[in-house]
Amino acid sequence: MKKGLTVLLVVGLLFTISLNIFAQDDIELTIAGGAVGEELQLTQKAAEIFEEKHPGVSVEVLSTPDLANDRLGLYLQFLEAESPNVDVYQVDVIWPGDLAQHFLDLYEYGAEEVADEHFQAIVENNTVDGKLVAMPWFTDAGLLYYRQDLLDKYDLELPETWEELERAAKTIQTGERAAGNQDFWGFVWQGNAYEGLTCDALEWIHSNGGGTIVNSDKEITIYNEKAVAAVEMAGNWVGHISPPGVTGMAEEDARKVWEAGNAAFMRNWPYAYSLGNQEGKVIAGKYDVAPLPAGDSGNGSATLGGWNLAASKYSDNPKWAAKLALFMAGEEVQKLRATEGSFNPTIKDLYEDEDVLKANPFFGKLYDVFTNAVARPSTQTAPQYNQTSELFFQAVHNVLTGEEDADSALAYLELDLQDLLDYPIAD
Ligand code: GLC
Repeated sequence: MKKGLTVLLVVGLLFTISLNIFAQDDIELTIAGGAVGEELQLTQKAAEIFEEKHPGVSVEVLSTPDLANDRLGLYLQFLEAESPNVDVYQVDVIWPGDLAQHFLDLYEYGAEEVADEHFQAIVENNTVDGKLVAMPWFTDAGLLYYRQDLLDKYDLELPETWEELERAAKTIQTGERAAGNQDFWGFVWQGNAYEGLTCDALEWIHSNGGGTIVNSDKEITIYNEKAVAAVEMAGNWVGHISPPGVTGMAEEDARKVWEAGNAAFMRNWPYAYSLGNQEGKVIAGKYDVAPLPAGDSGNGSATLGGWNLAASKYSDNPKWAAKLALFMAGEEVQKLRATEGSFNPTIKDLYEDEDVLKANPFFGKLYDVFTNAVARPSTQTAPQYNQTSELFFQAVHNVLTGEEDADSALAYLELDLQDLLDYPIAD
């Protein structure tokens, strides 16, 4: 009996030792990710699933600044120092062209097998010189959030043009203030001088038929009547249907006003959808999302956003870095993020998944908005997209704050872009 127990113990011990030999017990990975809305919690949750699947591997999630420009600044510090401290980076859809040189080609690490499952346009966006420098993770498109209860209360239709939006915003704002809510505003959006303003302003301009700043033939198109009119229109919102402070607002600032019940309309990305419907939120169940309004082009435009996962060339564990990026961008994690956080998958099949559609009916209803979103001119200006965008949002911001009129702001911008890019001006 005693002998039997000893044998059992020895066998158990040997088994544990052998398990430890096969476990990777000294792999430590770091993923740098966003913390907008529920992003950080969801990334942490996915990291834990990865750890469970790979005993001995630990994954740390590094929280990075909300504003895309600040995040890029931080990444550049790591990347230019060729730092092994971050293995996987969450990268914006506009960055592959600017940052490609720092990332592994994921095709060499198994991405070939799964790339076809994702939206082709994003895979192409992330392919630089034939190398897949980032796996698509979630896609974004600008949406119009609207309060259905307030449209009903004031007997208004959902606005389909910017003019209709201005009128509806004004009517609701006047009514709500008269009813005692002095903090109420018609329309909130992203007016701070940062990448988010580039996205919003591209929507006003493109929907008005004013192009995409620089066209795909590498010609500068920004100084045109339709673009000037669109930027002027937004300048007139400030202090009228939008708070003066909108010129300092990013996504999360707009969401706060919206979730406090103090706005009739909001321009934001899909992530805000699930958050506003959480239990206890004053606007829960009272709103929906729609395509952004149309300008002179006759159609609304949504800027294409979204984030991807790149594995660093400077990682001490390139194989594991790539494995983590591929896992995070895979179906299990994309479904988790879609159902728990309304992050749009980049895997096509998930748009037919019942759980995903139940949590986000708009994924199906607005499918065309997501697949037809307008890209910022990042491919045609790489590796100078970031500077291009900075000049653009700075010019637009000057109009919003009243420092410059739209015509001269865009005329000067044209010159600045010529200096920077050395591209011709379109006829
Ligand atoms: C969202 C988009 C991203 C964009 C950023 C601007 O995160 O997904 O592409 O650059 O907003 O604020």
